[in-house]
Amino acid sequence: MTPWQLLDRALVPGYGELTLHQRGAYFVIRHDGAELMGSHDHGSEDLLASLACEGLATKPDARVLIGGLGLGYTLRATLDALGPTATVEVSELVAATVKWNRGPLAHLAGHPLDDVRAHVIERDVVEVIRAARGHYDAIMLDVDNGPDTTAGWGNPGLYSEAGLKRIIRALRPGGTIAIWAASETPAFIDAMRAVGLRAECVRARQRGTSNRHVLWMGRVR
Ligand SMILES: C[S@@+](CC[C@H](N)C(=O)[O-])C[C@H]1O[C@@H](n2cnc3c(N)ncnc32)[C@H](O)[C@@H]1O
Repeated sequence: MTPWQLLDRALVPGYGELTLHQRGAYFVIRHDGAELMGSHDHGSEDLLASLACEGLATKPDARVLIGGLGLGYTLRATLDALGPTATVEVSELVAATVKWNRGPLAHLAGHPLDDVRAHVIERDVVEVIRAARGHYDAIMLDVDNGPDTTAGWGNPGLYSEAGLKRIIRALRPGGTIAIWAASETPAFIDAMRAVGLRAECVRARQRGTSNRHVLWMGRVR
């Protein structure tokens, strides 16, 4: 079998290291050796976008935020779901990930960063959300394992009561929160409802395996 080849590495200040690997047509980004995102399956990352963007295709000047660029699949699915006047902001913590998406990874999701509607913000999504007021129709988060995070990033504050309230403040009336998670954390739906969201848990099967990812969907009333 063809061995994995290490293409590049980048430090995440305070949170270890990202590495980019290739084996034939497949690419993987690892965080301290554990797979963060691979090109072999992106069904749940695509579904995150299509659910979050429901009803926005014909909305003039729709504006959405994606937390975490990864391999660009959620960005691609978002661009495909929205109309020509939309703005898609992608917040990415690790500058090297953006460089990889402009280089060896660009073809995977059909060069989404070349779309004029896509705007990369090389900044922590926590800060981007904190600074926004009534700004987005949807906010999608796929930055780690989700509310049950073990990936070692500084993101758990996103999923706390204060974090959810900050996301709601950043949304336009009727806006949508969509959060990717590796596993189901039953208490999280109660946390979403406690801050006033209409909340739903959608299970997305990972192709070719019995694994299920979870999408936490919340709508501002
Ligand atoms: C699992 S990947 C995202 C996969 C992506 N949905 C896709 O379709 O390829 C997670 C990404 O989030 C980024 N990330 C992690 N924490 C972040 C934060 N606080 N703000 C912005 N980006 C972050 C990582 O560097 C990585 O690029």
